[in-house]
Amino acid sequence: MAEELIIAASTNKKERYDILIPQIELLVTGEPDIIANFSNIAAALKQTMNFFWVGFYIVKHDQLVLGPFQGPIACTRINFGKGVCGTSWKEKKTIVVPNVDAFPGHIACSSASKSEIVLPAFKNGEVALVLDVDSDVLNDFDDTDREALEKVMRIVEKLL
Ligand code: SME
Repeated sequence: MAEELIIAASTNKKERYDILIPQIELLVTGEPDIIANFSNIAAALKQTMNFFWVGFYIVKHDQLVLGPFQGPIACTRINFGKGVCGTSWKEKKTIVVPNVDAFPGHIACSSASKSEIVLPAFKNGEVALVLDVDSDVLNDFDDTDREALEKVMRIVEKLL
């Protein structure tokens, strides 16, 4: 495992993701513990991309339960179909929300959160968890984030 994260000097977010993603792969290689791996993935994303909040919500029975994250404290449980996370779980797809106030049923864990992206990871065709990323800036997530974070989810799936 790498001992120190190399962060691209560039402010271009695609370049930052491109340097980060192979390091995420290395970080989790050889470590079987899922909590350790999710913790380091959340930290590496926060450190590199400076997200306001980034973390995992894991499917446990009929709810999403808060997993490893970086950022302010957050809601611990989200029901199926509720909020952006529960909707991503229900619809089995990535959801980009440019303005959280315009998303019906958005769950405001922090009033500072303005835009959001939520991506599912699958095991045996079912959603096993979602990755939630929040920004304190409106319209902060685009296809660059979607494509890069979907690559991260494919790495996560190999750990499930
Ligand atoms: N906003 C999310 C809830 C989780 S927090 O943002 C960390 C939602 O609507 O599902």
